[in-house]
Amino acid sequence: MTQPFGSYQSELYLAGLGGQAPEFTTNVAALDESARLSMDGGAFGYVAGGAGNEATVRANRAAFDQWRIVPRMLRDATNRDLSTTVLGTTMPAPVMLAPVGVQSIIHPDGELATARAAAELGVPMVLSTASSHTIEEVAEASGEGPRWFQLYWPNDPEVCVSILERAAAAGFTTLVVTLDTWTLAWRPRDLDRSYLPFIRGIGTAIPFSDPVFRAGLAQSPEEDPTAAVLKWVPMFTGTDKSWSQLPFLREHWDGPIVLKGIQHVDDARLAVEAGMDGVIVSNHGGRQVDGAVASLDVLPEIVAAVGQDLAVLFDSGVRTGADVVKALALGAEAVLIGRSFAYGLSHGGQSGVRHVLRSLLADTDLTMALSAQRSVAELSPDLLRRNG
Ligand SMILES: Cc1cc2nc3c(=O)[nH]c(=O)nc-3n(C[C@H](O)[C@H](O)[C@H](O)COP(=O)(O)O)c2cc1C
Repeated sequence: MTQPFGSYQSELYLAGLGGQAPEFTTNVAALDESARLSMDGGAFGYVAGGAGNEATVRANRAAFDQWRIVPRMLRDATNRDLSTTVLGTTMPAPVMLAPVGVQSIIHPDGELATARAAAELGVPMVLSTASSHTIEEVAEASGEGPRWFQLYWPNDPEVCVSILERAAAAGFTTLVVTLDTWTLAWRPRDLDRSYLPFIRGIGTAIPFSDPVFRAGLAQSPEEDPTAAVLKWVPMFTGTDKSWSQLPFLREHWDGPIVLKGIQHVDDARLAVEAGMDGVIVSNHGGRQVDGAVASLDVLPEIVAAVGQDLAVLFDSGVRTGADVVKALALGAEAVLIGRSFAYGLSHGGQSGVRHVLRSLLADTDLTMALSAQRSVAELSPDLLRRNG
């Protein structure tokens, strides 16, 4: 099946005949500047910022520049199929929306707009535990769209199980467990504005709508939001877990489980030993350990060590079609994007996310076409050359 993602290019040119230009840039790498103009300063700082002096944010991008694509010619790449299946989820291209919390600070429709745009294109979204809408509301907005659920692992087991059961009942098929944010990093952009959405009760829709969490409160979150916030924040942040606790999640989740935030090859091996189904090689977009290694730099060694045993996905720094192709060629089964779709969301909600996704998919498709790669399976490190 050919996915005509590249046709977005002609659609945009033809619209120009009627005097219509895209509402905002098609250059995903330049989106941050137009998002800055459309967003509240605190919200923009929260989305764009990273840990410390943001060395890892920059390293994530620089790592992509270390690789160059070497295109091939005369190979009949007219028809391409970018579709793939990861852990039983079929997707039109190996691109997913990363879990991004508190989306209502970006646009009032938040995760609902994101879910609708993703579902329109069949692109899987990963819903964050820190969502500003409930699991059930997002599932409804997502309709038939593929959806995974990301867990910030609450240290109250009963609340944890309740949230997992709700996610499964609402049609979320794969569990993504984020390991790298058990406590929040030092983030100067947010600190300088004293800006943390959670303590303002934003990004708390999932616990606040949870019957088990609510049962543990003296008054409902509607009656006493501060008490509810003070109970929730230490429940999902501040306590590290251990490998030995993973069987608890396996016991309470029937579908595939993916560990997000893996950067060390030994941790990837431990994930295999623990019987996990996948890992996301990610440094949280440089938002957690400043000075940490660029995510792309550890991808090849993790793929070499565990790629035969579990699904290896990738995020952190993906902006352009060339980035997608490079990460796939280095062995990722799929990539996730964070900030770029969040910036799209800031431009008109659903239509903004759709524009960013269509732009990225078109750019990916055309990069593959012009490099003579007809399918995801054909992508290999042979396509790339290390620069310098
Ligand atoms: C505003 C924002 C909120 C995020 N919230 C979450 C979250 O709730 N859960 C999670 O696992 N990762 C979260 N992340 C990290 C993303 O899932 C992803 O790892 C990262 O954004 C990828 O890097 P990129 O932004 O360079 O694409 C967040 C990222 C951003 C920018």
